[in-house]
Amino acid sequence: MTVRVLQFGTTGQLARELLAHAKDFDVEITALSRADADFADPQALAHALEGARADLVIVAAAYTAVDLAQSEEALAYRVNAEAPAAIARALGDRGAALVHISTDYVFDGAKGSPYVEADTPRPLNVYGASKLAGERQVLAACPRALVLRTSWVVSSHGKNFVKTMLRLAGEGGAIKVVDDQFGRPTAARDLARFILSQADRLASAAAGDAIFGLHHFANAGEVSWKGFAEGVFDLALGAAAPTVQAIATADRPAPAPRPARGTLDTGKLERAFGVNPRPWREALAEIVAELKAQQGSAA
Ligand SMILES: NC(=O)c1ccc[n+]([C@@H]2O[C@H](COP(=O)([O-])OP(=O)(O)OC[C@H]3O[C@@H](n4cnc5c(N)ncnc54)[C@H](OP(=O)(O)O)[C@@H]3O)[C@@H](O)[C@H]2O)c1
Repeated sequence: MTVRVLQFGTTGQLARELLAHAKDFDVEITALSRADADFADPQALAHALEGARADLVIVAAAYTAVDLAQSEEALAYRVNAEAPAAIARALGDRGAALVHISTDYVFDGAKGSPYVEADTPRPLNVYGASKLAGERQVLAACPRALVLRTSWVVSSHGKNFVKTMLRLAGEGGAIKVVDDQFGRPTAARDLARFILSQADRLASAAAGDAIFGLHHFANAGEVSWKGFAEGVFDLALGAAAPTVQAIATADRPAPAPRPARGTLDTGKLERAFGVNPRPWREALAEIVAELKAQQGSAA
């Protein structure tokens, strides 16, 4: 059965990977951009669902500007909590299943070991708090919702850490990267392909199935931002890789505090879905190769 997917978001990292990889799965995606469905206006979103014949709804739109959210709290909550909640309510317990994405930033990072789904969230910043409110409201309103918390999302497009590091390397000069924050990098592609690979199962499973509820998805392996930067340079530049200087979080104050170790444990997802996310470095190698190919074709 071809799964009819209604996707919110067309331009983000995850949204683009979902659209790019749909051809490899038995899905038919209708994607709505911000112009079609603005999450800043949650009440209008129910209309976007009216008349849409979907087996699965994927929310790939979000307010992701972590620092800016500190001063745009109302907007962050509208986009990250009220809008997905309105979609979940409109679906209710009939019709399509729902996939919604959340973040490791729901945790304060003080646990000292990887976080499981049952751990108590304690966000340090507005972005994390707005995402936590969103995941809770989605789960409360829609019994056939899968909420995937993910972390450190990267791809060959959009704004992300990999591209920032390569730009800095290109500019020359010292590269200083935080070495006291740890997490699990995640390729938007791997997250997208995981969701698409489960579309059929999600569309047909009944409420109460272990695949619904809260799960963590991230590529395998924990690393600091500095270690991640070194991985990027090693793969992209080899012997020409610049030296990365370690700095502490305190050396680079940012408006939004970040968790020191928000590392996600993905065991629950691995057991429920029978999957094993691959190591982040393997996924990163593909992204670096794509970026090189883009550079080659632009030259
Ligand atoms: N990026 C990370 O490191 C990270 C880490 C953990 C979790 N996550 C979560 O993973 C999911 C996917 O993130 P991503 O990296 O793909 O995000 P992204 O690249 O920043 O893209 C965000 C998407 O949301 C859309 N959007 C923003 N405001 C909107 C609005 N008011 N109405 C409609 N659409 C709006 C953007 O559209 P425009 O182009 O129109 O702005 C864009 O398509 C999100 O739920 C995010 O919270 C991300």
